[in-house]
Amino acid sequence: MPLVKLMDVHKAYISGSETTKVLYDLDLEMKRGEMVMVMGPSGSGKTTLLNILGGIDKADKGTVNISKMNLLKLGKSELNEFRRLKVGFIFQFYNLIPTLTAIENVELGLETTMKNKKEIRKRAVKYLELVGLGDKLNNFPQELSGGEQQRVAVARALAKEPDIILADEPTGNLDEEREKKVMKLMNTLQHELGTTFLIVSHNTRLKQYVDRTLILRRGRLHLDS
Ligand SMILES: Nc1ncnc2c1ncn2[C@@H]1O[C@H](COP(=O)(O)OP(=O)(O)OP(=O)(O)O)[C@@H](O)[C@H]1O
Ligand SMILES: [Mg+2]
Repeated sequence: MPLVKLMDVHKAYISGSETTKVLYDLDLEMKRGEMVMVMGPSGSGKTTLLNILGGIDKADKGTVNISKMNLLKLGKSELNEFRRLKVGFIFQFYNLIPTLTAIENVELGLETTMKNKKEIRKRAVKYLELVGLGDKLNNFPQELSGGEQQRVAVARALAKEPDIILADEPTGNLDEEREKKVMKLMNTLQHELGTTFLIVSHNTRLKQYVDRTLILRRGRLHLDS
């Protein structure tokens, strides 16, 4: 059974008398441990798709099955549970909390799944070190460069060791050397922990790290040709 199965997913946004159809009849299947990249023009619905998969936004119609759960059928508290335990999100604009340091931002993400404070700290340090920020643990986001903030966001998502990581331009602010390190780290988790990844990016260089690439166009996913 696939980890992710989307069928006939529809999503439109209505503002005033305007309806923007973003996704229609969209299908997607992903195996556990697979890494898939989604490319597509700006405004084609890539972030919308990630939000639907992560239980942040709701599809209007269709089937959204992840880890044997149909997200469209879950109640509010079940959906919260799903987001807390199963999903790691790397947002397009990081979403770090400005009043918390790098390590506190990562720890906050872990408090929902782990209870032991020492274990939480250990895990947060481990992943911040893995993204090369071992010497910036106590910096606030505003004391970090854009690329460093992005790596905190990557560490926060990976540290949860969730079933699936949804990543929106996870390397958008990194130089090539850093990009390679972050992608290799994700590949390691994919192979060692069986983590599933859906990565949205405009960067064709990332193709070498993923199992397959899909293009989002006119509301649906197409094979990359
Ligand atoms: N909450 C919202 N309310 C109304 N319209 C929205 C909302 N979120 C997204 N849209 C619209 O839906 C479309 C898809 O947006 P989305 O953010 O998913 O695009 P994207 O593919 O991620 O683009 P980019 O590459 O620029 O990040 C756009 O036309 C956008 O304006
Ligand atoms: Mg987007």
